[in-house]
Amino acid sequence: MRYIGDPILRKHAQAIDTFDKKLRTFVDDMIEVMYKEDGIGLAAPQIGFSTRIIVVDASELINGEYPRPFINPEIIEFSDETDVKEEGCLSIPGVYEEVRRAVKIKVKYQDEKGKEFTEEYTDWVARILQHEIDHLNGILFVDRISPIKRQLLIAQKAIPAIY
Ligand code: CO
Repeated sequence: MRYIGDPILRKHAQAIDTFDKKLRTFVDDMIEVMYKEDGIGLAAPQIGFSTRIIVVDASELINGEYPRPFINPEIIEFSDETDVKEEGCLSIPGVYEEVRRAVKIKVKYQDEKGKEFTEEYTDWVARILQHEIDHLNGILFVDRISPIKRQLLIAQKAIPAIY
């Protein structure tokens, strides 16, 4: 696992253009790491690969086919309606803070075979997707909390001053 302060977490990750067996094995490995670490989402940069792959497990939250990968995901619409919920991140152990995010999003992505989808997601899945897609753009959830709370975390040494 890569932790806050590691430069890979600040990079804009590279798009995937080859949908082969190697990619499918990589996705399986990511899902295994996500479960081992007890996460509900994971982005490739968190395990040291600056590529646009995330995996999401929402099976405890809603019905549907989970866990599943979202490759080259892009949010093309955000609802005006937002809400605030507490988030954590496997790359920032022990830190949980409230983050404001859109309640509903429209996401364009590809599956592990390269097939394209555009789908709408709401509530927790929308939140997990926004958090994980942020990782692909070098953004961490502590970038989205109030500056005062962030300064407090730095003062408490919960996160580094420069990350
Ligand atoms: Co995270």
